Amino acid sequence: MTQHNRAKSDVFQPTGQIQFGVFFQGVNSGTIWKAAESGSQTDFESFRRIAQTAERGLFAAFFLGEGLRLREHLGRPHALDVVGRPDAQTMLAALASVTRNIGLVATQNTTYNDPADLAHRLASLDLISGGRAAWNIVTTDNAWTGANFRRGGYLDHADRYRHAEAFVETAKRIWDSWETPAGPARRVLHEGQHYTVDVTPRLPRSAQYRPVLFQAGDSPEGRNFAARQADVIFSAHPKFDDAVEFRKDLVERSVAAGRGANAVQIMPASEFILAATAQEAAEKKEWVRSLQIGPQQAIAYLEQFWGRELSAYDPDGPLPEIDPVVEETSETRGSGFHGAKARQLADQWRAEAKDKGLSIRQFVTSKTARIDATFTGSYTAVADHLAEYARTGAVDGFNISPWLVPTGLDDIVNHLVPELQERGVYPTEYGGSTLRENLGLDAPVRSSDEAAGAVRA
Ligand SMILES: Cc1cc2nc3c(=O)[nH]c(=O)nc-3n(C[C@H](O)[C@H](O)[C@H](O)COP(=O)(O)O)c2cc1C
Repeated sequence: MTQHNRAKSDVFQPTGQIQFGVFFQGVNSGTIWKAAESGSQTDFESFRRIAQTAERGLFAAFFLGEGLRLREHLGRPHALDVVGRPDAQTMLAALASVTRNIGLVATQNTTYNDPADLAHRLASLDLISGGRAAWNIVTTDNAWTGANFRRGGYLDHADRYRHAEAFVETAKRIWDSWETPAGPARRVLHEGQHYTVDVTPRLPRSAQYRPVLFQAGDSPEGRNFAARQADVIFSAHPKFDDAVEFRKDLVERSVAAGRGANAVQIMPASEFILAATAQEAAEKKEWVRSLQIGPQQAIAYLEQFWGRELSAYDPDGPLPEIDPVVEETSETRGSGFHGAKARQLADQWRAEAKDKGLSIRQFVTSKTARIDATFTGSYTAVADHLAEYARTGAVDGFNISPWLVPTGLDDIVNHLVPELQERGVYPTEYGGSTLRENLGLDAPVRSSDEAAGAVRA
């Protein structure tokens, strides 16, 4: 490994560089799945094409989310989600064989997995890919998802990160335990409130020692957890001022955790709508937005909150005057929105739409467009803007969701990347052969050294 441990400083130092990752989304309203140009959401070909395009653009990482359960709406799978998404680790293992340098990031939750099993599967991906695997740690503790499993909904929301921390510490110890002076592998024993583990690792270390750790979760507990455990945060703070604020917050937390100010990299979620001129980019944005939320999607989106059929309503007309049938929007399970007071929300939305003169479709488009996360403009203007992020160290990169699969990265790779390279803020080659090297991360510290006293949870 070429990396070395930099002196740990409590003063943040920007690298002056940014990197890209690609987030191939599965369940979302941001990808156009129904246009003539749209590919399949499940065919390997879509994933291969995106991953290879990203690699041509020297992207650091190819990223897959995790959805353990289809969202449900009025007792049926949510109509917009049925295409589903293949298991991340299986997909990434297949992609490892058609790529050479790009990192392969699997989102996997700590609530419904077991540390010994997941550590082994991730170590396998890391070996198969020559040291390119990463684990995006999420907690996904809700009971709706939990009902999929024998342990349905058993984890209290307040415990999710205590549980996650014990999980991650155990996984790290398993990865650390292959080679010791005493022999090829030593037993890992962990006895705690959430896990009792007695395991001997079954695989040697990978070319990058162990998988890189990403984290996605934005609560104060989530940020502290990332400050202690993660190498990279997949953040929800792409807008410049917000990104600067988030960096400051993270630096404070990672210094407090004793890891120094530069320990954790930040890559926010983002969307790019680009063209040769600002005018063309604005027109393209109109087109993208009109296809992201079609008439069916607009009605289905409102139905999530109204808890009833709204198909009789005109998507180009005003919001429904009838009220939601549920007090809580719990009919749509797993939407992430249940718990909001539906009637109150409906009143608020009707008033807002009326005020702004928006139809159902326009209103839903305005609610679902990731305004903060969208970079629209000419290649040169957006490159100038991103160079400012690099210069100030607001972020270490962007995790980009293409709005079209499989061609949605072409513009970025063909036009934006060269502009960034010209400005000296984007890699011109891969820095090494492993993800850890390509991200410029320090070599891992053995977990037994770093955690003086194992976490007991
Ligand atoms: C940018 C971002 C992406 C996420 N992606 C996923 C995902 O793909 N699957 C998932 O189950 N949870 C995902 N999560 C949410 C995690 O489940 C997270 O652990 C959860 O929000 C609870 O943590 P929190 O309360 O700290 O936010 C994501 C969160 C963020 C901020």
